[in-house]
Amino acid sequence: RNMEDTNKFLTKLKGCYFANTQLNLEFLENLDDFEIRDDDVFIITYPKSGTVWFQQILCLIYFEEHRKGIGNLETVERIPFLEYFSREVDFAERPSPRLFTTHIPYYLVPRGLKNKKAKVIYIYRNPKDVMCSYFHFSKKLTASATDNFVEFMNLFLEGEVAGSLWFDHIKGWYEHKNLFNIHFLMYEEMKKDLRGSVLKICKFLGKELSEEDVDAVVRQATFENMKNDPRANYDNKLKAYFGIQKKGHFLRKGTIGDWKNHMTAEQNEKFDMIFQTKMKDIPLKFIWDM
Ligand code: A3P
Repeated sequence: RNMEDTNKFLTKLKGCYFANTQLNLEFLENLDDFEIRDDDVFIITYPKSGTVWFQQILCLIYFEEHRKGIGNLETVERIPFLEYFSREVDFAERPSPRLFTTHIPYYLVPRGLKNKKAKVIYIYRNPKDVMCSYFHFSKKLTASATDNFVEFMNLFLEGEVAGSLWFDHIKGWYEHKNLFNIHFLMYEEMKKDLRGSVLKICKFLGKELSEEDVDAVVRQATFENMKNDPRANYDNKLKAYFGIQKKGHFLRKGTIGDWKNHMTAEQNEKFDMIFQTKMKDIPLKFIWDM
């Protein structure tokens, strides 16, 4: 077992940290052989980049009953996490098209994903907001992290969090994009033009929705609606996994530029310098404020 570093909250496998909750290490270690179907769809994100949001969008696009508010199957049941749900869900038994969510780095994916048929959607968000969102999330939910922002920033910049280093995650996926049938979508773009983003995604997925259906998707994927939608807000799962005493929510603020309320000018400068060095060869666009 190639496991270098573990603590109560994180496990490092093949160079990447995973949250211990629900983790199935054995499954992860054999992930390379996991059978991929041509019509599988994967949502890939670094934590806190809009995962839960995009799960809701994909559910609304794929499942008419979800769009119509029939039944109360949660998004996470429809689009389970690859690395965290393999004990609860028999992936091989799921009807096609199977939808998955995962935070794994590009080098850990099942090799079948490189057939370029199965589709991958990579959601990314400006890393200052990711860091702030992560700070609040881990502070509330995993006693592992600190409630000191400076300390958390250090952890984040060292990659000592689930998902490991943000820079490595996005660069890995971007630099190997030619191996995959992959579409990059920005959190901030969804925020600024949700309808346009939904249409782009439908095109990538080969899904044709009527005007009304697109309206229904957009309406139910807004922050306010999701926050109040038990199918989408994860509160039940958080209670089940972390206990009711914890007060965290996946839907916290949902804005662009909240880092300005957290970072000092000096911290910002330090972050910018690291960003410029690490990202200099990556032409992805970023939006840092509204
Ligand atoms: P904040 O903590 O900045 O509010 P993830 O699902 O990857 O853990 O990401 C969580 C972040 O996505 C949180 O950011 C959350 O509020 C935001 N988010 C979730 N749903 C959203 C929506 N419908 N619109 C905008 N942001 C959303």
